[in-house]
Amino acid sequence: GDVFTHDPGFTSTSACESTITFIDGEKGELLHRGYPIDQLAAESHYLEVCYLLLYGELPTSAQMADFENRVTRHTMLHDQMTFFYRGFRRDAHPMAIIVGVLGAMSAFYHDSTDITDPWQREVASIRLIAKMPTLVAWAYKYSIGQPFVYPKNDLDYASNFLNMCFSVPAEEYQIDPILSRAMDRIFTLHADHEQNASTSTVRLASSSGANPFACIAAGAACLWGPAHGGANQACLEMLREIGSVDRIPEYIARAKDKDDPFRLMGFGHRVYKNFDPRATVMKQSADEVLDLLGIEDNPTLQVAKELEAAAVADPYFTEKKLFPNVDFYSGIILEAMGFPTSMFTPIFALSRTVGWISQWHEQLSDPAHKIGRPRQLYTGAPFRDYVPVDKR
Ligand code: CMC
Repeated sequence: GDVFTHDPGFTSTSACESTITFIDGEKGELLHRGYPIDQLAAESHYLEVCYLLLYGELPTSAQMADFENRVTRHTMLHDQMTFFYRGFRRDAHPMAIIVGVLGAMSAFYHDSTDITDPWQREVASIRLIAKMPTLVAWAYKYSIGQPFVYPKNDLDYASNFLNMCFSVPAEEYQIDPILSRAMDRIFTLHADHEQNASTSTVRLASSSGANPFACIAAGAACLWGPAHGGANQACLEMLREIGSVDRIPEYIARAKDKDDPFRLMGFGHRVYKNFDPRATVMKQSADEVLDLLGIEDNPTLQVAKELEAAAVADPYFTEKKLFPNVDFYSGIILEAMGFPTSMFTPIFALSRTVGWISQWHEQLSDPAHKIGRPRQLYTGAPFRDYVPVDKR
């Protein structure tokens, strides 16, 4: 028979060649097209990082202006999309709505189905980057019973998203530039992360030649789980459940107990075995936002800080190399901004769309790409003859 390696969870299998993102888990290093994430977070902005991920180089100012203009022209959703939203139960999780509406977009853009045409692939990429803020903001508006807010194309990408989430027709909404910057930084820090579960899902889905919007819907579905993009929601819920600093030892003990399935959410990473470089930037950003909003005494943040200190001082966590990851701090910022926990994973999905679509584009541009088809180690019954029901 065929010879193949057995590697559950793909811990040691490379599924593709890629030029987009490099991670050195031992050093705690993350590079996009060679540029380190801390420099990008400090000096660049999300749309520029989108350009970098998609096209491979930082843009000139003319290229950036052209890209921004193209993204801006595609921010509207087809108005019939509102019917899809209205078809959902009002209390649906926004991720359920997002997975559904993303999939539905494949019915609106038939031209994108021709994935052999690089120009069509580029248009699909721009459409997705442009429409995700609208799509995600509308899932939020629908869930709280407020009218949909249309995109305002004179606003920057992050401010436009905040405006679609928080403005109401009855009054003027003032966007604080510090909050826009923090929002943009959350987008930037989540933009891509090489072959994680959702990106691998997008690649596997698209390997059959499927419509790009359907592939991105598959990626979003995978991201939703608590071991992946759902960790930021799970983390904040855990911090709230802990509630006060004196209950931290109890939760640390539970996380260490082999017979207790409980894990510290927002801790640990498959690849980073030193620290998550995104968590360092996110932690600074969390401090800035909390200072601005005057909630230094936020009990959730106090629990977060003490929990981090307690875990870092505990040999169980250091020996297993479990450090706070990006989701540990992003949740605190989003809560301070006024987002409910159910919106945390949708914001991750919005941010990661560029990574998914860049990897999708890279895969399809490779003339040697072929359908993904893992094998298995069969452990079921050997050959046996069918037994009629009266003989069982
Ligand atoms: N709390 C307590 N113990 C843990 C934790 C944790 N958060 N994470 C791992 N461990 C232990 C685990 O019990 C195991 O112990 P042992 O070797 O004694 O059996 C050991 O550490 C290795 O864990 P693993 O599950 O084999 O490691 P993995 O690489 O398969 O899992 C992970 C990585 C991120 C799924 C896991 O650390 C985890 O569940 N963390 C909590 C959820 C979370 O924060 N996820 C977000 C990840 S970053 C953003 C993203 O990917 O979306």
